[in-house]
Amino acid sequence: MKTLTIIPTFNEIDTIPITVRRLRQAVPHSDVLIVDDNSPDGTGDYADRLAARDEQIHVLHRETKNGLGGAYIAGFRWGMERGYDVLVELDADGSHQPEQLPELLDMIDEADLVIGSRWVPGGAVVNWPVHREIISRLGSLYSRTLLGLRVRDVTAGFRVFRRTILESIDLDAIESVGYGFQVDMTFRVAGLRGRIVEVPITFVERTMGESKMNSGIVLEAMTNVTKWGLTARARTLTRRATGLLRG
Ligand code: GDD
Ligand code: MN
Repeated sequence: MKTLTIIPTFNEIDTIPITVRRLRQAVPHSDVLIVDDNSPDGTGDYADRLAARDEQIHVLHRETKNGLGGAYIAGFRWGMERGYDVLVELDADGSHQPEQLPELLDMIDEADLVIGSRWVPGGAVVNWPVHREIISRLGSLYSRTLLGLRVRDVTAGFRVFRRTILESIDLDAIESVGYGFQVDMTFRVAGLRGRIVEVPITFVERTMGESKMNSGIVLEAMTNVTKWGLTARARTLTRRATGLLRG
């Protein structure tokens, strides 16, 4: 199957070289698309030099920093236009280990979405600050409960999508800008009755560069999850009420 690994970058000059090298070694058949939001540190130029040396590496330049959601949607579109069957999400900073990608890819034969999960048995985090772990676990719990999802790591960013499920999703309708995008996609795949499989991974906190996570990103995700959850509940109640009235 024709596979594309999408790596979004904003100021990842310290980590992108090693991540791409590890990925090319671990999964040589996968093409690579770096989606750079005009990083002031020159990540985009570096990516262009990588692409010039390796015909399996491509770069998509965006004008301004526009959030993780927009970067991935642009990457999905790029890949779907070019006939890729499988689209992978991978962070640039080493937190997602390319050496574990084959285990995720193995499962895509029987799934529409494979999630590299920290919060299933066998999953782990290394060196993650405790406040990040708390935000992530609570965020997953809140989303699972409100959205009725059976996924343990709802915000995970190490993922494999089958092209056909992406084709069934209206990518234009996705408003999530930040990391809530991951919850958004999970909810949409589940809503389409897509098959979701979680594979345990070890998430390793970056040792170089900085996280782009901020309180605005958490707030956006929480607001959206609350909105989607309440809308879904209201819909169910309305359906039940009209059922009762009709007798
Ligand atoms: N192009 C682009 N534009 N890339 C971005 C942007 C953006 O606005 N914001 C972040 N990125 C890239 C980073 O450069 C990095 O490669 C990747 O997205 C993840 O960003 P980090 O800032 O390192 O994320 P994190 O480690 O705090 O968060 C991780 O955990 C989250 C919660 O589970 C990631 O795996 C997230 O995907 C995940 O949702
Ligand atoms: Mn990170």
